[in-house]
Amino acid sequence: MKLFFSSIGKKLQVAISGILLVVFLVFHLFNNLVLFTGADNFNSMVHFLESIKPIIRVMEFGLLMLLLVHTINAIKLTIDNKKISPKVYGKPKTSTSTINSRTMAVSGSIILVFLFMHLGYIWLTYQSHAMAVNETYYDVLLRSNFVYLNHPPTAIFYIIAILSIAFHLRHVFQSAVKTFGLLNSSFVYYLGFIFWGLVPAGFIIIVLSIQIGVIQ
Ligand code: HEM
Repeated sequence: MKLFFSSIGKKLQVAISGILLVVFLVFHLFNNLVLFTGADNFNSMVHFLESIKPIIRVMEFGLLMLLLVHTINAIKLTIDNKKISPKVYGKPKTSTSTINSRTMAVSGSIILVFLFMHLGYIWLTYQSHAMAVNETYYDVLLRSNFVYLNHPPTAIFYIIAILSIAFHLRHVFQSAVKTFGLLNSSFVYYLGFIFWGLVPAGFIIIVLSIQIGVIQ
Protein backbone atom coordinates (compact mmCIF):
# COMPACT_ATOMS: atom_id res chain seq x y z
CA MET A 1 0.00 0.00 0.00
CA LYS A 2 2.93 2.29 0.88
CA LEU A 3 4.43 1.63 -2.57
CA PHE A 4 1.11 2.58 -4.19
CA PHE A 5 1.23 6.13 -2.77
CA SER A 6 5.01 6.58 -3.03
CA SER A 7 6.61 8.63 -5.82
CA ILE A 8 7.56 5.47 -7.77
CA GLY A 9 4.05 4.08 -7.15
CA LYS A 10 2.49 7.23 -8.65
CA LYS A 11 4.88 7.04 -11.59
CA LEU A 12 3.91 3.42 -12.16
CA GLN A 13 0.21 4.33 -12.03
CA VAL A 14 0.73 7.14 -14.59
CA ALA A 15 2.76 4.83 -16.84
CA ILE A 16 0.39 1.82 -16.69
CA SER A 17 -2.79 3.90 -17.09
CA GLY A 18 -1.06 5.81 -19.94
CA ILE A 19 -0.28 2.57 -21.77
CA LEU A 20 -3.85 1.28 -21.32
CA LEU A 21 -5.25 4.61 -22.61
CA VAL A 22 -3.04 4.17 -25.67
CA VAL A 23 -4.52 0.69 -26.20
CA PHE A 24 -7.98 2.34 -26.27
CA LEU A 25 -6.70 4.91 -28.76
CA VAL A 26 -5.53 2.16 -31.14
CA PHE A 27 -8.98 0.47 -30.99
CA HIS A 28 -10.63 3.83 -31.48
CA LEU A 29 -8.49 4.55 -34.52
CA PHE A 30 -9.38 1.20 -36.10
CA ASN A 31 -13.09 1.84 -35.44
CA ASN A 32 -12.84 5.24 -37.13
CA LEU A 33 -10.82 3.98 -40.08
CA VAL A 34 -14.04 2.14 -41.06
CA LEU A 35 -15.19 5.61 -42.22
CA PHE A 36 -13.03 5.05 -45.33
CA THR A 37 -15.09 1.98 -46.26
CA GLY A 38 -18.34 3.96 -46.50
CA ALA A 39 -21.38 5.04 -44.51
CA ASP A 40 -23.07 1.62 -44.42
CA ASN A 41 -20.11 -0.15 -42.85
CA PHE A 42 -19.56 2.62 -40.32
CA ASN A 43 -23.23 2.71 -39.31
CA SER A 44 -23.32 -1.10 -39.03
CA MET A 45 -20.28 -0.99 -36.77
CA VAL A 46 -21.90 1.60 -34.47
CA HIS A 47 -25.13 -0.49 -34.43
CA PHE A 48 -23.08 -3.52 -33.44
CA LEU A 49 -21.48 -1.53 -30.59
CA GLU A 50 -25.01 -0.47 -29.52
CA SER A 51 -26.03 -4.13 -29.42
CA ILE A 52 -23.30 -4.93 -26.87
CA LYS A 53 -23.97 -1.81 -24.79
CA PRO A 54 -23.49 -3.42 -21.32
CA ILE A 55 -19.95 -4.45 -22.29
CA ILE A 56 -19.27 -1.01 -23.80
CA ARG A 57 -20.53 0.66 -20.60
CA VAL A 58 -18.09 -1.37 -18.48
CA MET A 59 -15.27 -0.44 -20.86
CA GLU A 60 -16.26 3.24 -20.77
CA PHE A 61 -16.26 3.13 -16.95
CA GLY A 62 -12.78 1.55 -17.06
CA LEU A 63 -11.69 4.26 -19.46
CA LEU A 64 -12.94 7.00 -17.15
CA MET A 65 -11.12 5.41 -14.19
CA LEU A 66 -7.90 5.19 -16.24
CA LEU A 67 -8.21 8.84 -17.22
CA LEU A 68 -8.74 9.85 -13.56
CA VAL A 69 -5.85 7.72 -12.26
CA HIS A 70 -3.61 9.09 -15.01
CA THR A 71 -4.52 12.77 -14.60
CA ILE A 72 -4.67 12.88 -10.78
CA ASN A 73 -1.33 11.11 -10.33
CA ALA A 74 0.33 13.21 -13.04
CA ILE A 75 -0.85 16.41 -11.30
CA LYS A 76 0.33 15.09 -7.91
CA LEU A 77 3.75 14.23 -9.33
CA THR A 78 4.08 17.68 -10.92
CA ILE A 79 3.27 19.33 -7.57
CA ASP A 80 5.70 17.01 -5.69
CA ASN A 81 8.45 17.75 -8.25
CA LYS A 82 7.93 21.50 -7.85
CA LYS A 83 8.21 21.19 -4.06
CA ILE A 84 11.54 19.34 -4.19
CA SER A 85 12.96 21.22 -7.20
CA PRO A 86 16.17 22.92 -5.94
CA LYS A 87 16.54 26.67 -6.31
CA VAL A 88 19.70 28.16 -7.74
CA TYR A 89 20.64 31.60 -6.31
CA GLY A 90 17.04 32.14 -5.25
CA LYS A 91 15.71 31.49 -8.76
CA PRO A 92 13.76 28.34 -9.64
CA LYS A 93 15.84 25.78 -11.55
CA THR A 94 15.01 25.79 -15.29
CA SER A 95 15.88 22.19 -15.99
CA THR A 96 14.53 20.17 -18.93
CA SER A 97 12.32 18.31 -16.47
CA THR A 98 10.67 21.60 -15.41
CA ILE A 99 10.16 22.53 -19.08
CA ASN A 100 8.86 19.04 -19.75
CA SER A 101 6.33 19.13 -16.95
CA ARG A 102 5.13 22.58 -18.08
CA THR A 103 4.65 21.47 -21.69
CA MET A 104 3.06 18.23 -20.47
CA ALA A 105 0.61 20.30 -18.43
CA VAL A 106 -0.23 22.46 -21.50
CA SER A 107 -0.64 19.47 -23.85
CA GLY A 108 -2.61 17.60 -21.15
CA SER A 109 -4.95 20.60 -20.75
CA ILE A 110 -5.54 20.86 -24.53
CA ILE A 111 -6.36 17.12 -24.57
CA LEU A 112 -8.85 17.54 -21.70
CA VAL A 113 -10.61 20.46 -23.46
CA PHE A 114 -10.70 18.34 -26.63
CA LEU A 115 -12.18 15.39 -24.72
CA PHE A 116 -14.94 17.53 -23.16
CA MET A 117 -15.78 18.88 -26.62
CA HIS A 118 -15.58 15.48 -28.35
CA LEU A 119 -17.62 13.64 -25.72
CA GLY A 120 -20.01 16.52 -25.02
CA TYR A 121 -21.12 16.60 -28.66
CA ILE A 122 -20.26 13.53 -30.75
CA TRP A 123 -20.47 10.88 -28.01
CA LEU A 124 -23.53 12.51 -26.40
CA THR A 125 -25.34 12.82 -29.74
CA TYR A 126 -24.72 9.11 -30.34
CA GLN A 127 -25.90 8.14 -26.85
CA SER A 128 -29.02 10.32 -26.86
CA HIS A 129 -29.81 9.67 -30.53
CA ALA A 130 -30.32 13.42 -30.93
CA MET A 131 -30.37 13.11 -34.69
CA ALA A 132 -32.57 14.49 -37.44
CA VAL A 133 -34.96 12.19 -39.31
CA ASN A 134 -32.96 9.95 -41.68
CA GLU A 135 -29.67 11.24 -40.24
CA THR A 136 -27.22 8.40 -39.52
CA TYR A 137 -24.23 8.15 -37.14
CA TYR A 138 -21.99 8.71 -40.15
CA ASP A 139 -23.85 11.94 -41.05
CA VAL A 140 -23.46 13.24 -37.47
CA LEU A 141 -19.66 13.09 -37.71
CA LEU A 142 -19.79 14.88 -41.06
CA ARG A 143 -22.03 17.74 -39.90
CA SER A 144 -20.59 21.09 -40.94
CA ASN A 145 -21.47 23.09 -37.85
CA PHE A 146 -19.24 23.89 -34.87
CA VAL A 147 -17.75 20.86 -33.01
CA TYR A 148 -18.33 18.43 -35.90
CA LEU A 149 -15.69 17.31 -38.37
CA ASN A 150 -16.77 19.11 -41.51
CA HIS A 151 -16.37 22.47 -39.78
CA PRO A 152 -12.87 23.80 -40.72
CA PRO A 153 -12.05 25.63 -37.42
CA THR A 154 -13.15 22.52 -35.47
CA ALA A 155 -10.97 20.37 -37.73
CA ILE A 156 -8.00 22.69 -36.99
CA PHE A 157 -8.64 22.34 -33.26
CA TYR A 158 -8.88 18.55 -33.65
CA ILE A 159 -5.51 18.53 -35.42
CA ILE A 160 -3.92 20.70 -32.69
CA ALA A 161 -5.37 18.39 -30.03
CA ILE A 162 -4.18 15.26 -31.85
CA LEU A 163 -0.68 16.76 -32.21
CA SER A 164 -0.78 17.46 -28.45
CA ILE A 165 -1.70 13.80 -27.96
CA ALA A 166 1.28 12.80 -30.12
CA PHE A 167 3.63 14.99 -28.10
CA HIS A 168 2.08 13.80 -24.84
CA LEU A 169 2.28 10.13 -25.85
CA ARG A 170 5.91 10.48 -26.86
CA HIS A 171 6.70 11.70 -23.36
CA VAL A 172 4.39 9.13 -21.69
CA PHE A 173 6.08 6.39 -23.65
CA GLN A 174 9.57 7.63 -22.86
CA SER A 175 8.85 7.88 -19.13
CA ALA A 176 7.08 4.50 -19.07
CA VAL A 177 10.14 3.01 -20.72
CA LYS A 178 12.36 4.72 -18.11
CA THR A 179 10.14 3.58 -15.24
CA PHE A 180 10.30 -0.02 -16.41
CA GLY A 181 14.03 0.23 -17.10
CA LEU A 182 13.79 -0.58 -20.80
CA LEU A 183 15.77 2.43 -21.96
CA ASN A 184 18.17 2.14 -24.90
CA SER A 185 16.30 -0.64 -26.58
CA SER A 186 15.74 0.35 -30.21
CA PHE A 187 12.87 -2.18 -30.44
CA VAL A 188 11.06 -0.29 -27.67
CA TYR A 189 11.87 3.02 -29.39
CA TYR A 190 10.30 1.92 -32.70
CA LEU A 191 7.37 0.28 -30.91
CA GLY A 192 6.81 3.62 -29.18
CA PHE A 193 6.88 5.42 -32.53
CA ILE A 194 3.90 3.34 -33.72
CA PHE A 195 1.88 4.74 -30.81
CA TRP A 196 3.01 8.36 -30.68
CA GLY A 197 3.68 8.74 -34.40
CA LEU A 198 1.48 6.50 -36.51
CA VAL A 199 -1.67 6.41 -34.39
CA PRO A 200 -2.03 10.23 -34.17
CA ALA A 201 -1.14 10.43 -37.89
CA GLY A 202 -4.07 8.06 -38.59
CA PHE A 203 -6.50 10.35 -36.73
CA ILE A 204 -5.16 13.43 -38.57
CA ILE A 205 -5.58 11.66 -41.92
CA ILE A 206 -9.24 10.99 -41.04
CA VAL A 207 -9.83 14.67 -40.14
CA LEU A 208 -8.11 15.87 -43.34
CA SER A 209 -9.95 13.30 -45.48
CA ILE A 210 -13.25 14.68 -44.22
CA GLN A 211 -12.10 18.24 -44.95
CA ILE A 212 -11.01 17.50 -48.53
CA GLY A 213 -14.03 15.31 -49.26
CA VAL A 214 -12.33 11.89 -49.48
CA ILE A 215 -14.76 10.87 -46.72
CA GLN A 216 -18.09 12.48 -47.58
C1 HEM B 1 -10.61 11.64 -36.33
C2 HEM B 1 -10.76 11.71 -35.06
C3 HEM B 1 -11.87 11.06 -34.26
C4 HEM B 1 -13.11 10.63 -34.65
C5 HEM B 1 -13.72 10.66 -36.03
C6 HEM B 1 -13.76 10.09 -33.44
C7 HEM B 1 -15.05 9.57 -33.40
C8 HEM B 1 -15.71 9.17 -32.26
C9 HEM B 1 -17.05 8.65 -32.21
C10 HEM B 1 -17.93 8.46 -33.43
C11 HEM B 1 -17.37 8.38 -30.93
C12 HEM B 1 -18.70 7.83 -30.40
C13 HEM B 1 -18.60 6.31 -30.32
C14 HEM B 1 -19.88 5.68 -29.79
O1 HEM B 1 -20.50 6.21 -28.88
O2 HEM B 1 -20.21 4.60 -30.31
C15 HEM B 1 -16.21 8.70 -30.12
C16 HEM B 1 -16.11 8.50 -28.77
C17 HEM B 1 -14.96 8.71 -28.04
N1 HEM B 1 -13.78 9.24 -28.51
FE1 HEM B 1 -13.35 9.72 -30.44
N2 HEM B 1 -12.90 10.19 -32.38
C18 HEM B 1 -11.73 10.79 -32.82
C19 HEM B 1 -10.62 11.07 -32.09
C20 HEM B 1 -10.49 10.80 -30.74
C21 HEM B 1 -9.29 11.01 -30.00
C22 HEM B 1 -7.99 11.56 -30.57
C23 HEM B 1 -9.56 10.62 -28.71
C24 HEM B 1 -8.66 10.62 -27.52
C25 HEM B 1 -8.17 11.64 -26.93
C26 HEM B 1 -10.94 10.18 -28.65
C27 HEM B 1 -11.58 9.74 -27.53
C28 HEM B 1 -12.88 9.29 -27.48
C29 HEM B 1 -13.50 8.75 -26.29
C30 HEM B 1 -12.84 8.63 -24.90
C31 HEM B 1 -14.80 8.39 -26.64
C32 HEM B 1 -15.88 7.77 -25.72
C33 HEM B 1 -15.62 6.31 -25.52
C34 HEM B 1 -16.39 5.48 -26.47
O3 HEM B 1 -17.60 5.38 -26.30
O4 HEM B 1 -15.79 4.87 -27.39
N3 HEM B 1 -11.48 10.30 -29.91
N4 HEM B 1 -15.21 9.18 -30.96
